Amino acid sequence: MKVIVVGASGETGTSVVHGLIKSAENIEVTAVARKSSLDKPEYLALKDLGVTISTVDLSTVSDELVSVLTGADVVISCLTSGNAEHVENQNNLASACKRASVGRFVPSFFGPICPPRGIMLLRNLKEDLLDHIKSLYLPYTVIDVGWWYQLSLPPLPSGRLTNALTMHVQTISGDGNTETALIDKRDIGKYVARIIVDSRTLNKSVFVFNEIWTQNRIFDLMEKLSGEEIPRSHVGFPNYLISYLSTTQLSITPDRNDVLIIFKANEQALQSKIKSANEAVAAGDNTQIRNLVMSQYELVLGIRGDNSPECAKYLGYLIGKDLYPDLQGESLEQFINDTLAGKIERLYARRR
Ligand SMILES: NC(=O)c1ccc[n+]([C@@H]2O[C@H](COP(=O)([O-])OP(=O)(O)OC[C@H]3O[C@@H](n4cnc5c(N)ncnc54)[C@H](OP(=O)(O)O)[C@@H]3O)[C@@H](O)[C@H]2O)c1
Repeated sequence: MKVIVVGASGETGTSVVHGLIKSAENIEVTAVARKSSLDKPEYLALKDLGVTISTVDLSTVSDELVSVLTGADVVISCLTSGNAEHVENQNNLASACKRASVGRFVPSFFGPICPPRGIMLLRNLKEDLLDHIKSLYLPYTVIDVGWWYQLSLPPLPSGRLTNALTMHVQTISGDGNTETALIDKRDIGKYVARIIVDSRTLNKSVFVFNEIWTQNRIFDLMEKLSGEEIPRSHVGFPNYLISYLSTTQLSITPDRNDVLIIFKANEQALQSKIKSANEAVAAGDNTQIRNLVMSQYELVLGIRGDNSPECAKYLGYLIGKDLYPDLQGESLEQFINDTLAGKIERLYARRR
């Protein structure tokens, strides 16, 4: 099987290429890069692993682009998806795949579960791409993966993880008891390698994840494994109120009406942050996009609870654990232990 990976030097792309190379299937992997990135150490390292490297320009649907893609059974996009240029690139890639008669296109979704429209800007953009794919009748598989372990850990008061993690969870959303599906980013490729050779997943969406956690349980586990007590603050919920609640022996659980009211306010604070960021972005202030995207993630992952196998099934996804019951991902506990032991590479460390 010939598989082309676009965005192979990125975080998702690296996981995908390694999963394909290690797969039991006989997969010939080509990574395509923009010309300006060819000398990046990531591509040189892939070459050493036997991956063929080609160059592409995704700014138009050119004959050259179609010719690079021709003969591929599967094209997997691991491109960033956050702005108009990224959208344009991915649309061009899909159109070129159609012209090259590619057997299956995997667009760059690889995110948490979320309803198609109106909740998250990033999801809207991805769904626009899916609409384009369907308008071409291009064979496809959407793969969503939940939220990365690598983005789910709180900082430790001692500061010993400050350099290890690119992004810490500074505040808990809602009451911290919303369940969410998590994955070790390094496992994504393992799942992708199974999905793309499976005829059951053609023209379908698949949801894969390793484990289900809540933010409170993640904090508990981090405290147990690190031996440090981690302060917990909630979005839009002042710390003095948390201290007050703990000194008055009130447990922060949703079975108390007064606490429930506070968490309702907490959700409202997040919603109003999203509303202001949305208005700023609509008025052309692109500096607010990151703020908007991160607040929407907090809402989806920490309050609404969309990122679950139940919501995925409702939305029509096939579930990885049903399709491949033998496939095991890394546990969060092992991931935290590896992080504490300094064995995990910092995310986006090599981005330039
Ligand atoms: N589920 C989660 O928790 C989670 C977290 C983060 C991201 N994601 C999703 O994962 C997907 C990939 O994101 P990522 O963060 O892994 O990406 P990333 O690390 O930023 O990598 C992006 C890749 O795209 C390539 N690229 C960018 N523009 C290009 C162009 N014009 N032509 C060719 N290649 C180009 C980059 O190559 P160069 O080497 O040339 O720069 C790089 O290989 C996105 O859909 C994102 O939403 C999910």
